[in-house]
Amino acid sequence: MIIALDGPAGSGKSTIAKRVASQLGFTYLDTGAMYRAVAWLALHRGINLDDGTALGRIAADEPIDFDNPSQEAQDTELTGVSISGQDVTTQIRTPQVDAVVSKVSAHAEVRRALVDAQRRIGAGRDVVMEGRDIATVVFPAAEVKIFLTASPEVRAARRFVQNATKDDATNAQGSGAAGDTSQGNSEKASFMQGNFGQDSFAKGDDQTRHQQMLEQINRRDKLDSERDLSPLRAATDSVIIDTSEMTIEQVCQKIVALVCRWQCEHQCEGASRPILPAVKQHDDEGDSHKAGISLQMPPSIEDARR
Ligand code: DC
Repeated sequence: MIIALDGPAGSGKSTIAKRVASQLGFTYLDTGAMYRAVAWLALHRGINLDDGTALGRIAADEPIDFDNPSQEAQDTELTGVSISGQDVTTQIRTPQVDAVVSKVSAHAEVRRALVDAQRRIGAGRDVVMEGRDIATVVFPAAEVKIFLTASPEVRAARRFVQNATKDDATNAQGSGAAGDTSQGNSEKASFMQGNFGQDSFAKGDDQTRHQQMLEQINRRDKLDSERDLSPLRAATDSVIIDTSEMTIEQVCQKIVALVCRWQCEHQCEGASRPILPAVKQHDDEGDSHKAGISLQMPPSIEDARR
């Protein structure tokens, strides 16, 4: 079963996709990390970013591996990724890669190779796959299709708080204090605080940095949604969820409920309760799991789309 989770930067995709995959016991695939890994290797090798053929060769020939996360990836909840045998978990999430990845991902040769790889990974598996074109191109027949969105201001605020939390954690670690270094907590903090939008910002430097973040988000949205190939957009049959005013857990519950509904509608005619295995739920106070949380039956997927 494929759960396609698309949406723009800062919509909460990664946090939500990881959480839903963990709750359902599905494989999680971050397709953005694949485009980032290709962009990183291209920069590393000094390849001309206008050369689609050379970039496509990297995407097709250099193995991208999610199966052997580095210690750092395991310690932080970052999605561990390597390309051509080199761990690039943190390198792919730098401003240098941010600045070029949209350009790299716009080349047809790159997209063709990575879409093929994504289809191979997803075939026959239960996967939560996050990206920009999963429901429209990679798996147009995905069983559950979600498009996450949030206002640009909230998305910029989330990224801002996420970076600030990461910086604080790094500083605390550097000074020997018992800081919170987990990316998971950083994501949770940013998701929540980001929901308060611009009002939650201090004056001065922070406002300027938030403004820069907003501009960067708007620029990437424009590049991703206006490119000729597989532009960022919701599939006509995706369920659109605006996460601006929602908590992580509310969004996860809504998606898990849609999955349960789909399974009941398609696999157990007449069943009165979800047939998924016991769903693990994150405890908001920590990362412990509770098994067997019962779910309210959601509206049907058709209703949810309306
Ligand atoms: O989700 P992200 O920010 O890590 O994605 C990085 C870039 O890759 C982003 O500019 C859009 C692109 N991307 C894409 O074109 N198609 C995907 N399925 C995933 C990401």
